[in-house]
Amino acid sequence: MSERERWATRIGLILAAAGNAVGLGNFLRFPVQAAQNGGGAFMIPYFIAFLLLGIPLMWVEWAIGRYGGKYGHGHLPGMFDVIWRNPIAKYVGVLGLFVSSIIMIYYCYIESWTLAFSFFSITRTYFGMTDFASMSGFLKSYQGVQTGYFDSILPAYIFLIITLAINFYVLKRGISKGIELLAKVGMPLLIVLAIILAIRVITLGTPDPVNFPERSVESGFAFIWNPNFSMLTDAKIWLAAAGQIFFTLSVGMGTLEAYSSYLREKDDIALNGLSTASTNEFVEVILGGSIAIPVAVAFFGIPATLEIAKGGAFNLGFVSMPLIFQKLPFGEFFGCIWFFLLFIAGITSSVAMVQPLIAFLEEQFKISHNRATLYVFIGTVISAHLVVFFLQYGFLDELDYWAGTFFLVIIGFIEVVIFAWIWGMDKGWAEINKGADIKIPKFFYYVIKYITPLYLLIILVYWALTDAIPTLLMSNIPSEQIPYRWLARVFMVSVFALLSFLVYKAWKLNKPRYE
Ligand code: PHE
Repeated sequence: MSERERWATRIGLILAAAGNAVGLGNFLRFPVQAAQNGGGAFMIPYFIAFLLLGIPLMWVEWAIGRYGGKYGHGHLPGMFDVIWRNPIAKYVGVLGLFVSSIIMIYYCYIESWTLAFSFFSITRTYFGMTDFASMSGFLKSYQGVQTGYFDSILPAYIFLIITLAINFYVLKRGISKGIELLAKVGMPLLIVLAIILAIRVITLGTPDPVNFPERSVESGFAFIWNPNFSMLTDAKIWLAAAGQIFFTLSVGMGTLEAYSSYLREKDDIALNGLSTASTNEFVEVILGGSIAIPVAVAFFGIPATLEIAKGGAFNLGFVSMPLIFQKLPFGEFFGCIWFFLLFIAGITSSVAMVQPLIAFLEEQFKISHNRATLYVFIGTVISAHLVVFFLQYGFLDELDYWAGTFFLVIIGFIEVVIFAWIWGMDKGWAEINKGADIKIPKFFYYVIKYITPLYLLIILVYWALTDAIPTLLMSNIPSEQIPYRWLARVFMVSVFALLSFLVYKAWKLNKPRYE
């Protein structure tokens, strides 16, 4: 068998894994989740989920990945096949390919908006749209949802193609010359840009002391961090916290496993996994929490910010922020920084979403890396059209609900059960600790074995009891969206079927042999 590609340096690997985890979720999704779910009180279920779900799954996934890599697998079907040795294992693993590919289809579109808005900032394209209605009209016309500043979808389309071209160029260059290099340049730059913005926000003071003395950055920080403990009795907050941990750490997606499959057998995973998780949390809580929400409170006050947060992550990132940049000296510069930072955060994550599928085609069908990359590129371009053209009908939201939220928890659950109960916790624990540069407290042995699966099971049961029926029947969905959301479901089922068929074919063509 030909030698497997490897990460060139340890720092490169950590930056790539951190780049995988740090994404749009850190800067857009997190602040909205915190603001909507109890502010400071959200941090309690959030940190509990980090400790009992996030960190344990991080280690489990790195361990599964490094072990699978030893057998030449960079994708979940192959990895589950090795550790479970059951004919259905590979089909269960299809979930991993499925989730990351579906997320990619809409994530790359949002990522392309960040590139476009970075360009619109520096060229001052949206300057002059100084109220919510006109700025949100600008965004909607860009998305082709409404006519307005842009009279066609063409600009959005062009930025999407550019974004996809950059993504696949990086992927084509491979692990060390593509993904690792991107992370080595991108991650330090991202952190510097985020620090510049956070400092700019913190030093804002009270932008309009005469008319609105109560609107200050301090009140912004107080708003996002003041705990509202009474909300902790609401199970929804615990769900939201667990969902955010999954999304932001990129666990339950098969992408961390793919990255760690390029490790050597004795490379550390205990410290690397922990560093990845901590970097992500620093960027999310410290930097992500210090930008969009505090600045919105300083300029618009608390009631308006709550409204913005209710309107979702796009309003916060693409409407409220541009309005603020227009009020700041050198606003075009800060605007460009904000959106470019989002773009870097996005691209270092989106390349991770595609890698498992490329590895799968390459390894199981023995086609060249370039050819595998090309096939996936074509598939992504075609599929992304659905998201572009059906955006206003909730197509993106439907994909995000299932692939970006629900199935992550399912995969996390299946994965930890396979790891701790089928493969066996003693073997698993030995695997996590092999080559480890730190000593993981034995506490986590029990967490992985009992608490993580139980925690996830409770979440799933709660979901089944409260959300399952209305969600499946789309009870709260505007009626004009329903056909498109069904289309989204049919699309997802077809993708799943296609991937399962490919797995079936691949194993038929050449059955992997494990000694
Ligand atoms: N963790 C990324 C974020 O916070 C999202 C992501 C999803 C990354 C799927 C990889 C795979 O935005």
